[in-house]
Amino acid sequence: MTIIVTGGAGFIGSNFIFHMMKKYPDYRIVCLDSLTYAGNLSTLKSVMDKENFRFVKMDICDREAVYKLFEEEKPNIIVNFAAESHVDRSIENPGIFLETNIMGTAVLMDACRKYGIDRFHQVSTDEVYGDLPLDRPDLLFTENTPIHTSSPYSSSKAAADLLVLAYHRTFGLPVSISRCSNNYGPYQFPEKLIPLMIANALADKELPVYGEGLNVRDWLYVEDHCKAIDLILHKGKVGEVYNIGGHNEMRNIDIVTLICDALNKPTSLIKHVTDRKGHDMRYAIDPTKIHNELGWLPETKFADGIKLTIQWYLDNKEWWETIISGEYQNYYKEMYENR
Ligand code: NAD
Ligand code: DAU
Repeated sequence: MTIIVTGGAGFIGSNFIFHMMKKYPDYRIVCLDSLTYAGNLSTLKSVMDKENFRFVKMDICDREAVYKLFEEEKPNIIVNFAAESHVDRSIENPGIFLETNIMGTAVLMDACRKYGIDRFHQVSTDEVYGDLPLDRPDLLFTENTPIHTSSPYSSSKAAADLLVLAYHRTFGLPVSISRCSNNYGPYQFPEKLIPLMIANALADKELPVYGEGLNVRDWLYVEDHCKAIDLILHKGKVGEVYNIGGHNEMRNIDIVTLICDALNKPTSLIKHVTDRKGHDMRYAIDPTKIHNELGWLPETKFADGIKLTIQWYLDNKEWWETIISGEYQNYYKEMYENR
């Protein structure tokens, strides 16, 4: 069994590689990643020397290179994590999101058609469903909720999902799609809410909460997401979409306050800043389908997962301090200065 994991030097992809290599020591895992600002080779250092692991620096949009890799590796399964993943960046610069998230997905599926595979799995997001109102806690996203996107990021992911389903119907490509809620855990790039707040709080810097901080996200520990994808690959039905989420809705302001408390930092560090354009109010996943059909349930409670995550950032300062000392400084200045 050979699995190509694209975007494996990023947050969820790397956690997925660790999960798969531990659980299936006889599988060959090939990580394809172009190492954008969000990709970090040091994340993969614990698996780099393993015989059944190969890292290839490659852009999923590079058709010729991707075809060559398929010819060499003859993969059985592709799991596509590679993407531009940050909503704020998509508002500043949508173009690269369309390139990577849509065109890159098409290139990978064309390679699958040309060389033949058992499964192409697209890692998608709950953001393709748009958002829900705060005053209707009874409403949740199901797999039948219409696609209704808000940002260039979510629109590019939705376009890719439609393309994946079209390749299934038109060409019979054996595909599956998962749409997960917000992940947190080790190796998340510090531009995202939880690691950004941990890093800033540790440095006694302001904690920039967009608007009033009342927006709700449905948080899932990254390992639970990885286990769900593993199940979909092995037991999921071809042509199907599976929502992944653990019924863990929280307001941003409560997350930031919790991080302050855990690190013994004052909440006076919180600064309410100009809201994100088009900011989605609430996400909430209904995971009934994956639970009933595949028996998936989240294993890590938020209270435990957030402790593990904060501890990981305390124990692995070198990993994120290296990141935030480089180009990230310019990004942070552009995004947050005078906001
Ligand atoms: P990330 O930004 O941490 O990692 C993305 C990885 O993709 C990086 O290693 C980057 O180098 C690589 N990459 C980007 N463009 C590439 C290209 N053109 N060719 C090859 N590699 C490229 O992202 P993440 O948070 O780990 O998200 C992974 C996937 O999961 C994305 O598809 C995202 O849409 C989806 N997702 C994320 C979340 C979340 O909460 N983070 C939730 C649901 C779904
Ligand atoms: O729901 C799944 C999605 O979750 C994934 O598809 C995306 O790839 C991932 O980035 C994430 O998107 P969000 O926009 O929800 O995540 P982010 O961490 O950027 O923001 C979470 C919430 O916190 C959101 O309401 C915006 C707010 N926020 C974020 C940052 C970075 C702040 O208030 N301040 C900040 O500095």
